[in-house]
Amino acid sequence: MSTLTKLALGAMGRLRPRPATGDGATTVALPAPERTGGMPLMEALARRRSTREFANTALTLPLLSNLLWAAWGVNRADVGRTAPSALGVQEIDLYLALPDGAYLYDATAHALQRVAACDLRRVTGYQDFVDDAPLDLVFVADHARMHMVPASQRESYAAVAAGAIAQNVYLFAAGNGLATVLRAWIDRTAIADALGLTHDQQVLLSQTVGHCKTS
Ligand SMILES: Cc1cc2nc3c(=O)[nH]c(=O)nc-3n(C[C@H](O)[C@H](O)[C@H](O)COP(=O)(O)O)c2cc1C
Repeated sequence: MSTLTKLALGAMGRLRPRPATGDGATTVALPAPERTGGMPLMEALARRRSTREFANTALTLPLLSNLLWAAWGVNRADVGRTAPSALGVQEIDLYLALPDGAYLYDATAHALQRVAACDLRRVTGYQDFVDDAPLDLVFVADHARMHMVPASQRESYAAVAAGAIAQNVYLFAAGNGLATVLRAWIDRTAIADALGLTHDQQVLLSQTVGHCKTS
């Protein structure tokens, strides 16, 4: 769907998901992530960039597992994560818009929990590539977890925490030859409706990830 059509539908509050393809499972157990190896950090930093062209090829489950663990996985026995959060409240939830449904990443179980049985990718942003790229991540802040944080600071702290996760995704993508772009040009209301979020949950950003398009 073109950006202009999305903008028009968005203005009317009618940007809707597509039906899911295939039979998504309600819970998807992810294989154990590879916690060693990979491209040296300095090389990954040298390659980090935003890319807006994606091949229409699905990410395999092992690749998705590694990506999500790198982004916001549990990396310590005390359930510490790969990205920081103020006071360790871990207020960011990562949702995945995939062709067979929308899922919440459960970092403790390292699994996906389906939250909507539809293809939400087109709702995750106004740019046309989001519709058919294999994965659009959505960063959601749960303000209910931020009671310890002064109210005036909650949005900015959550944005910083989401930014740290997004950079993890960028570095994982750079290190694995994937394409990615972080996006703020999104219809937050449409996304919140489609994901069935509560008033405590705030949609912050989206990030598309996929294989690079080869011309
Ligand atoms: C908070 C934030 C929001 C962004 N929103 C968008 C967006 O909506 N669409 C997009 O194509 N790129 C978006 N970007 C990506 C920037 O355009 C990109 O990082 C910038 O052009 C620098 O390019 P680089 O990432 O390749 O260094 C965003 C980046 C950030 C940090």
